[in-house]
Amino acid sequence: VAVEAAGVRRGERVLDVACGTGNAALAAASRGASVSGLDAAERLIGVARERARAAGIEAEWRVGDAGGLPFPDDSFDVAVSVFGVIFAPAPARAAAELERVVRPGGRIVVTAWIDRGPLAEVMHASRAAATRHLPASPATGDHLDWSDPQAVAGLFTRSTLEVEERSHPFTAASPRAWVDEQFAHHPAWRGMAAALPAPAAAELTDELVEILAAANEDRAGLRVLGPYALYRAVVRS
Ligand SMILES: C[S@@+](CC[C@H](N)C(=O)[O-])C[C@H]1O[C@@H](n2cnc3c(N)ncnc32)[C@H](O)[C@@H]1O
Repeated sequence: VAVEAAGVRRGERVLDVACGTGNAALAAASRGASVSGLDAAERLIGVARERARAAGIEAEWRVGDAGGLPFPDDSFDVAVSVFGVIFAPAPARAAAELERVVRPGGRIVVTAWIDRGPLAEVMHASRAAATRHLPASPATGDHLDWSDPQAVAGLFTRSTLEVEERSHPFTAASPRAWVDEQFAHHPAWRGMAAALPAPAAAELTDELVEILAAANEDRAGLRVLGPYALYRAVVRS
């Protein structure tokens, strides 16, 4: 969706910031773009590199920080960040970096979750359990509500910005299968599962299953929608 919204064309230079395992970069490459992917997690960059190799795609992969991109000014026609740059601890610096590395007239697409709906409720319930049972973790970075178009417009000072709301379907064999999957593999829930007392972890699991079951659109499995903001910026100068 992000690559489509950015209108990526054959031969364009595309940067995927906080690329994880390279989903957007690989989608851009499949449109004939020349792609670079950057992520803070070395292991995920390793997975991205392996995926590209297996697909016969040539791409540049870098371990790095969205707040200090290791590329010269105007290096790219397009930058995308799919639920990625929203995690950078200094949002203003990360947005300025996107504008710096994209040439004037180039496009930037960023997606950000909207704090509404069943997935947001799942996050709130998880945070509440952490607050009840675990020591407070120190605040990291500046807070910015990336789902607030005005706040985001304040970051992209050199661009013209448009926003639209979309939604992403989360699916699984059942609500419980989705929750079990997060506790087994998602870094945040995996960490919580290890740190919470066992009864609290079981209680939280049941609470999350209940939230998802109440919003479930698929009787045979799980399908819930997560709303998100899709920003498209065109760099002016
Ligand atoms: C939810 S994942 C999204 C991954 C990928 N964009 C995708 O759509 O599959 C968030 C990613 O942001 C990365 N990340 C978080 N903070 C970062 C930072 N300051 N600089 C670069 N990457 C960062 C994480 O390592 C993770 O891969």
